[in-house]
Amino acid sequence: MTAPDGRPLLLLVGGGGGLVGRSVLMEFQADWSIRSVHRHPVPGEQHGGVEWIAADAASLENWDPLLKDVDLVLTLAWYRPGHDRRFAPLTRGLLRLLDAASRCGSPRFAHLSVPDAPADLEQGLPYLALRRRFDRALERSGISHVIVRPTMLFGPGDRLLTVMLRQMRRYRFFPLFGNGEYHVSPLSVRDLARILRTEVGRPGSRNILAGGPRRWRYRDLTDRMFAALGQRPRYWHLSPRNSMRLASTIERLGFSLIYRYEVEWLLADMLGLPPYTGLDLPLADVEPFIGAEGARMRARPAALA
Ligand SMILES: NC(=O)c1ccc[n+]([C@@H]2O[C@H](COP(=O)([O-])OP(=O)(O)OC[C@H]3O[C@@H](n4cnc5c(N)ncnc54)[C@H](OP(=O)(O)O)[C@@H]3O)[C@@H](O)[C@H]2O)c1
Repeated sequence: MTAPDGRPLLLLVGGGGGLVGRSVLMEFQADWSIRSVHRHPVPGEQHGGVEWIAADAASLENWDPLLKDVDLVLTLAWYRPGHDRRFAPLTRGLLRLLDAASRCGSPRFAHLSVPDAPADLEQGLPYLALRRRFDRALERSGISHVIVRPTMLFGPGDRLLTVMLRQMRRYRFFPLFGNGEYHVSPLSVRDLARILRTEVGRPGSRNILAGGPRRWRYRDLTDRMFAALGQRPRYWHLSPRNSMRLASTIERLGFSLIYRYEVEWLLADMLGLPPYTGLDLPLADVEPFIGAEGARMRARPAALA
């Protein structure tokens, strides 16, 4: 892909060193130049010709130099847990980026957000309330943009399905939050990168939800995960209230296995999004991923899974 003056198109990514970032880089690296802002080094990033800007998006005051020659800005940076004092500076940093992009002639802007959540979380949880503040600012900015809101993602090194499998393998039991009748439609992180690329290539501004190819009843998915480990499903049944209590306790103890708001979101049955339909290739099913991860874990002692 080249700009009108013949140089390769330039992508500025904020938060490209994580799960989504790894796939995005893979997707764009072949024909885009990439400038990537994140705080910690990522092994192998520089070998792919990525220009790493070691910076905290929350404290970057002047984005102008980083926007030079940029054709597309992509914002991925966000935290999973935290209070207002953590999310507010990052929100301000991203708003400064948006403002700078607007002033410097509006490159196209893509932003990763999340699906709708229960109203109390949307309004009261900084993770969501401040994210929506940025979503709305982008929508009002006048910049040509796309906001993609995927559901639960899976891929190598993810912190949801892979972590759940590991717990099942180690403890042979898994907590079942409520009745397990709610839904999820896991989307491959590789497909998400393709979706981002497809969407930024289409003209106009949009806000889209993106689910994977199959809408699972949660409990069917966890049954399948036990099967991939060669184990009989064994659940520790918890009422919705006790599920949230457990998650709060885990959170207070400083573990990142699951957060209370994630349990509430799941129980509200808002994560079974319909499949994204705009790709030429079929969306990847989660089952082969679960099968391969399960087989990999079975080959190791349970304590090391
Ligand atoms: N994973 C999912 O299932 C899922 C589902 C829906 C939406 N999303 C959204 O997708 C986005 C990416 O998620 P992910 O799973 O790839 O997260 P991740 O693995 O935690 O990666 C987050 C990235 O953001 C960077 N980052 C965090 N704070 C930063 C800061 N202050 N300044 C600069 N960089 C910062 C991190 O790198 P450094 O620590 O080096 O700075 C890392 O590169 C997030 O907005 C997330 O909410 C994820």
